[in-house]
Parts: sequence; C-alpha cells; structure tokens
Amino acid sequence: MSYVIAVSGKGGVGKTTLSAMIIRRLIARGRKPVLAVDADPNSCLDSNLGVHAESTIGRVREDARKEAAKGLALGMSKQQLLELKIAESLVEASDFDLIAMGRSEGPGCYCYANNVLKQTINTISNEYPFVVLDNEAGMENLSRRIITEVDLLVMVADPSRRGLDTLKRLHDVTNEMEIRYKKLALIINRMRRDELPEYAAQLKKEIGANILIGIPDDLELAEFGEEGKDLAGVPEGNAVSGRIDQLLGEAGI
Ligand SMILES: Nc1ncnc2c1ncn2[C@@H]1O[C@H](COP(=O)(O)OP(=O)(O)O)[C@@H](O)[C@H]1O
Ligand SMILES: [Mg+2]
Repeated sequence: MSYVIAVSGKGGVGKTTLSAMIIRRLIARGRKPVLAVDADPNSCLDSNLGVHAESTIGRVREDARKEAAKGLALGMSKQQLLELKIAESLVEASDFDLIAMGRSEGPGCYCYANNVLKQTINTISNEYPFVVLDNEAGMENLSRRIITEVDLLVMVADPSRRGLDTLKRLHDVTNEMEIRYKKLALIINRMRRDELPEYAAQLKKEIGANILIGIPDDLELAEFGEEGKDLAGVPEGNAVSGRIDQLLGEAGI
C-alpha cells in the first residue's frame, strides 16, 4: 500500500509549488520512488519538477475512444488498449514518475473508461511507496474517486482572513464529498510575518487538523516560480524546504 498525500486549496495559493516541494523533500529523505499525480488541468506540476508531460489521462481516454471506434487490433480488449495508453502517458524520471490527469476531452459518457482509469491508476500507484496528488481547486478529481483513500490531506490557504474562510468552506465540501483522510495538515502559505494569524489556530481546531504550519513568502521560491524552473534546484537551506521537512516530520513520514 502506498502512502498518499493530497494537496488542496483555492487557485493560486501555492498547491503546485508545495506539491513539487513535498515530492523533492520526500526524495531527499529517501522516500522514493514517488508517483506525482497532476490532477489540476490548469497546472504545471511537470515543469515544477523539471519534466514535460506530453499526454494526459483526458487525452488517453479520448484517443482510446476514437481508436476503439475504428476497430481494435486483433486480440486486444478495450481495457487493454486503455491500460497501454495510460502506461505510455507516464513520464519517467529518476526518482519519481508523473501522470497528468488533464481535462475530460470531447463529449460522451465516460463511465466505463473512468472505471478502467480508476482501476489502472490504483494499480499503478500501488507500485510506489509514496503518491503525491496536486489537486484542482474544487477537489473534482478526488471526488471522482480516482484515488479513494488519502493518508495525509494538506489544505493550503493564504494568510488573509478571507483565505482562511475559503479554506473552511473547502473543508466542508471535502466532508460532504466523503473524501476520507487519516491526517489533516493546515498550511498557511506566503506569510509575510513570523507569527501565524490568530485565526489559524482556531481554524485548526474547527476543522480538526492534526498539523498547522506557516510557510514564509520566500523570494528564492518566487523567483523559481517566475522563471518556471525545476524546484530541484532550491538550495538545501531554503526556509520553505525546512518547513516542508517539518510537515513530513510531524506527519511521521
Ligand atoms: N511560499 C512561497 N513563497 C514565494 N512564492 C510562492 C510560494 N508559494 C507559491 N509561490 C508562488 O505563487 C505562485 C502560485 O503558486 P502555485 O503553486 O502555482 O499555486 P496553485 O497551484 O495553488 O494555483 C507561483 O508563482 C509560485 O512560485
Ligand atoms: Mg496549481
């Protein structure tokens, strides 16, 4: 069984950046190989990790549908075709592999394809001790139950009161969707002051989070983001690296 970490929060709070940092720190701790799942169609987890995803699961599903309509190669089932295409879309790097979900392309019903996808992704993820999922803002991919059980759910917010309120709503949605997690971490990202906002501790209690961590607004990290660089290059002593190590430590990883 793999240990699944899912990162969520509204758009622009730093989900993709922190997902990539979590992956890099897992690797640094020898917790590898990691399967990186880019579950946000508007995201670029791949470039944050210094790789390029040519295809997405959304495209795989559409291609398989078109190919199946033309007629399958002798002896091949629709399921085998989908499995083959999923395997082809996996980006392989030295300490991690990456799979991008993309969007659902084209019209039509995907129930069958989605079920195969779910099974195949679950089979693939079982081969990795750690899976990190960079979610889209609305938790859609989690709610579609592509990955069903999460060990550590990381919710990211900006330090504003409004940002924390948004996170409270996202937490309610998470519960309504019956997304199951074992541990919950609350991250206040891009802090400009040393102290956590007062409301953060209250929110931690309200949502029953196990871990509360503040991450500074870091110039070095912002530059990596602006230039679209591989976060593997973030130096060891970087403040954000340290906070991610703290997160992993407190989660018992
Ligand atoms: N702690 C941080 N310090 C400085 N810049 C950050 C930090 N976290 C995120 N950023 C920057 O904020 C921007 C948005 O982050 P991103 O990870 O793409 O957000 P999301 O995936 O939630 O939409 C990026 O340009 C990123 O480099
Ligand atoms: Mg993102």
